[in-house]
Amino acid sequence: MNENLELIGAIDKTRLPKHIAIIMDGNGRWAQQRGEERVFGHNNGVQAVRETAEAAAELGVKFVTLYAFSTENWNRPKQEVDALMHLLVVTINNEIKTLNDNNIRLRAIGNLESLNPEVKLELEEAMEKTSGNSRMDLFLALSYSGRWEIVDAMRKIAGKVKNGELNPDEINEKLVSSCMNAPDLPDPELLIRTSGEYRTSNFLMWQTAYTELFFSSKLWPDFRKEDLYEAIIDFQHRERRFGKTSEQIINCKG
Ligand code: FPP
Repeated sequence: MNENLELIGAIDKTRLPKHIAIIMDGNGRWAQQRGEERVFGHNNGVQAVRETAEAAAELGVKFVTLYAFSTENWNRPKQEVDALMHLLVVTINNEIKTLNDNNIRLRAIGNLESLNPEVKLELEEAMEKTSGNSRMDLFLALSYSGRWEIVDAMRKIAGKVKNGELNPDEINEKLVSSCMNAPDLPDPELLIRTSGEYRTSNFLMWQTAYTELFFSSKLWPDFRKEDLYEAIIDFQHRERRFGKTSEQIINCKG
């Protein structure tokens, strides 16, 4: 607890990342290390979700996006996919009250049409019941992949060109961004991946062009508030140059 206070004290609240994206990895290995089925790891990942969302909201982070189920995850054994879907339904339902108590709005990105009806319904209900909350937006990326989202945006743009609403010369980065799943979601300044894997695995590909990456060796079910604080402190010690020189950045600050 005291250690947490020390870490919180080391965070500059005026320079918080507005949006933190998280690849929650390592549930399967966490379970296997304990001689359990992979699903046991997913179940225990829920506590890490709770702690992370709570810690981010308490600090004043405005958006958190969790990679909860990728397009590629559909290729896992049916038993695991079914268990994950069931876990989503149960967790989303159980957490509505906590989300409301913490003034957190639940939202989602991804191919939601491909989710099974029960999950979709539960999700829509939770999004509706938390829609009035304003402290932080918690996005679940479900049946999501960055390439899928870019293809989806391309389809929207091609449709506009086809029906004469848009001239191809008018296609620019701003327009492409506005065709992403959640156009009001700012690009993440910080992306955290757990479990010691150094990949971004098709997550928010368009939005992470200039995102700082933080890799934690912790397996997701072990991730706690202090791990989020450490990632933010590390982020705040970096110099973000966006293609400029270090001198230019220092002069701008002056
Ligand atoms: C990756 O670990 C994790 C997932 C594919 C699912 C994440 C889901 C949860 C934490 C469940 C609850 C989430 C919400 C938002 C309600 P892995 O299975 O790839 O682990 P491994 O790399 O060790 O095999």
